[in-house]
Amino acid sequence: MKILVTGCYGLLGQTVCERAPKSFLVYGVDIHEGNIVLPDDKYFSLDLTDRKKTLELLQDLKPDYIINSAAYTDVDGAETERELCWKINVDLVENLIYGARKIKAGIGHISTDYIFDGKSGPYAEDAHPNPIGYYGRSKLAAENALIGSSVDYFIARTMVLYGMSKNGKTNFVTWLIAQLTNQRPVKIVNDQYGNTTLADELAEGIWTLIKSGYSGILNIAGREIINRYEFAVRIAEVFGFDRDLITAVTTAEFNQPAPRPLNSGLIVDKALNELNIVLSDVVEGLHKFKSIYYSGSLVPG
Ligand SMILES: NC(=O)c1ccc[n+]([C@@H]2O[C@H](COP(=O)([O-])OP(=O)(O)OC[C@H]3O[C@@H](n4cnc5c(N)ncnc54)[C@H](OP(=O)(O)O)[C@@H]3O)[C@@H](O)[C@H]2O)c1
Repeated sequence: MKILVTGCYGLLGQTVCERAPKSFLVYGVDIHEGNIVLPDDKYFSLDLTDRKKTLELLQDLKPDYIINSAAYTDVDGAETERELCWKINVDLVENLIYGARKIKAGIGHISTDYIFDGKSGPYAEDAHPNPIGYYGRSKLAAENALIGSSVDYFIARTMVLYGMSKNGKTNFVTWLIAQLTNQRPVKIVNDQYGNTTLADELAEGIWTLIKSGYSGILNIAGREIINRYEFAVRIAEVFGFDRDLITAVTTAEFNQPAPRPLNSGLIVDKALNELNIVLSDVVEGLHKFKSIYYSGSLVPG
């Protein structure tokens, strides 16, 4: 089977490529010129908001399945860069749908708990979405475009993704490790709840969906729900930092530009019951992350 991974310069996209089972022929595409995980002849540098070029790529390559991890992911930036956010999170997906229909390819799309308002989480796959920020609105619109299309699809919803990106971009865990390594005190919100998800495990879950031919929506996230402050404390404990550097604040005090779903989280029972996909709890996930990427020191290995 030939697979095209979009956004393969980003955290999840590169991890999906790296964790591909050998039986799949994997190609990647991203807006960046530099290719970091694939052989050069398997990488395409392209702005996927360009419908004509996207269609040309799909018609030339003819993948059986597209895994779409390309996205505009700056939750706060989305409040002001609305047009760009919509172009990448919605128009780009419509381009993929348009192309996939012509070549009869399937699409596996990655979505988020930000499609919910966080008033009554955790959420099952059939919970009623009600995004409170622009990023969440754009991600919900992309889900709806796929659901309303005639293309074979799956939507994997996830949240609080962390891992080791070769592109140098930080995520909550790598950012916090950098702060604590340098003895910098940090303030972390204690009223935003959700599952924390190791990108490597999510990538394995996505390959399970491809192998099983899954269609529909599925939550794939770490199996424990925790607030961000408690998560930070666990990170400090697992990596041996001084937890007193971490101070709890409320979301209201922290004053982030975009509203956040507070009592969020994804119920992951369906992934377990239907496909035996089960991701680590918080501390297991952090230990796994440490053992994969930090070989005895805090220099990624
Ligand atoms: N990170 C999380 O905590 C989280 C949580 C829930 C769901 N998700 C979802 O998971 C997916 C992957 O997230 P991630 O954290 O891996 O994102 P990421 O690291 O930002 O990767 C996305 C990649 O897509 C690229 N891209 C943006 N616009 C493009 C375009 N027009 N054409 C081609 N490539 C383009 C990005 O380039 P630039 O870097 O230059 O923009 C980036 O390399 C997304 O769908 C996201 O919504 C993420």
